[in-house]
Amino acid sequence: MSFNASVSAQDFPILTRKIRDDKRLVYLDSGATSQKPHVVIDAQSNFYRMQNAAAHRGAHQLAEEATDALENARQIVANFLNAHHDEVVFTKSATESLNLVAYAMGNAEKGNRFHLTAGDGIVVTEMEHHANLIPWQQLAARTGATLSWFEVTPEGRLDLSNIAQVITDKTKVVALTHQSNVLGTIIPLQEIVKRAHEVGAVVVLDACQSVPHMPVDVKALDIDFLAFSGHKTVGPTGIGIFWGRRELLAELPPFLTGGSMIENVTMTGATWAPAPKKFEPGVPSMAQAVGLGAALTYLTDIGMNNIHEHELSLTKYLLKEFEAIEGLTVIGPRDMNMRGGSVSFTVGDIHPHDVGQYLDSQGIAVRTGHHCAWPLARKMGVPASTRASFYLYNTQDDLDALVTGIRGAQKYFG
Ligand code: ALA
Repeated sequence: MSFNASVSAQDFPILTRKIRDDKRLVYLDSGATSQKPHVVIDAQSNFYRMQNAAAHRGAHQLAEEATDALENARQIVANFLNAHHDEVVFTKSATESLNLVAYAMGNAEKGNRFHLTAGDGIVVTEMEHHANLIPWQQLAARTGATLSWFEVTPEGRLDLSNIAQVITDKTKVVALTHQSNVLGTIIPLQEIVKRAHEVGAVVVLDACQSVPHMPVDVKALDIDFLAFSGHKTVGPTGIGIFWGRRELLAELPPFLTGGSMIENVTMTGATWAPAPKKFEPGVPSMAQAVGLGAALTYLTDIGMNNIHEHELSLTKYLLKEFEAIEGLTVIGPRDMNMRGGSVSFTVGDIHPHDVGQYLDSQGIAVRTGHHCAWPLARKMGVPASTRASFYLYNTQDDLDALVTGIRGAQKYFG
C-alpha cells in the first residue's frame, strides 16, 4: 500500500480542528501522545455500544463476545510484535508494564531466577525516561542490588566503551530505552543484548518511542521483556502492553493480585493461573484493548516501514532547516545515523517554555521541559528544552510552520 501523509492525516478528526484564533493545528507532540484515527475511535465506541461485558467472567453471549474481542486484540498485538498470544499481557500503561516487571522481580523468592540480593546488578542508561528508571531504583533499594548505568556522550549517544565493566557477571537485569524520548537516539541494542545474555542477564526494553514508529520484532531483537503504550501508537489511553518470553513469564511472580489471575484460592493462600492471566487481575481494559487492536491494524495496513521512512525523511529535513537558524542548538544527534523523529532543541537564551508558548500561539503543539528524563537533561547541560516529535500524519508543511514559528519567537523575544 502506498503512503501519503496528507491523505493519512484525513483519518484523524482532531487534525481538522482549528486552534488559537482559527489557526491550523500543527501537532508536533506525538512523543507525548499520538492522535487517533476514526477506526480507533469507532472500534472503542462500538465495543461500548454493542459488546460491553466483563471478559473471561460472565456466562452469557455478551461476555463471550467481549472475551473474543479481547483475545482477538491480544492476537493482533502478538502478530504486530512477532510474539505468541500468551506472551502478551494487557496493562493500563507502559509505566505499569515497567513497574510490573520490576515489582514482580522484587517478589521473587530464593531459588527463582529473578530473585535479587545484595551483590546482584541492575543496569540502566542515563537516557531513561523516569518510568524506566525509578522502578529499577526502587527494586535496587528493596533488594540491596546495585544500580549502574551506561553514560551518554555529549552528542547524545550511549557510551558503550566500558560495556564489559557495566554489564558484569553480577548483572541480572539490563533495562533500557529503545529510542530516547528526548534525543531521538536509537540505541545499539544488538551489542547490549549480546553482552547481557553472555552473562545470563535479561533485557527489558522500553519500546514506547520505537514500537509506534518502526517495525519491532521481539524475536529478531532477541530481547526478554518489552513495554509499550497504546496511546502513543494511535491507540487509546488506559492500555499498555507488557510482553515477555513465554518461559520467563512462567517463572516471573505476579505483581498485582486479585480476581481472575488465580488457579486456586483458599483462606490462607492462592496459586496462580498461567500467563498472561497471572499478570491481569481485575476486569481488563477491554474497550481500550479493542481500540489498540484497531490501531495496530491501521498501522500495519499503512506499513511500519513506510511510517519509519516517512519520519526519517521529516527528521532529515528538519535537521537541515535547523542548521540555518542562528542560535538554535539541537540536543541529541544531528546526523541521521540511528535516530528517530524526536528533535529537542534550545533557541539561544529564550526559555523553552516561552518558545513553547509562542509556538502554541501560532497553533503549533510541542512539548517543553525535562521530558520526564531529568538526569538526562542535567547530563546534556540543558535543564529544559523544546521538543518536536513527529508521526505518520505530519508533513513538511508542519515542519515549515515550526521553523517559521521559531523565527517568530526569536523576533518576539528580541
Ligand atoms: N513520555 C512521554 C513524553 O516523552 C509523555 O512526552
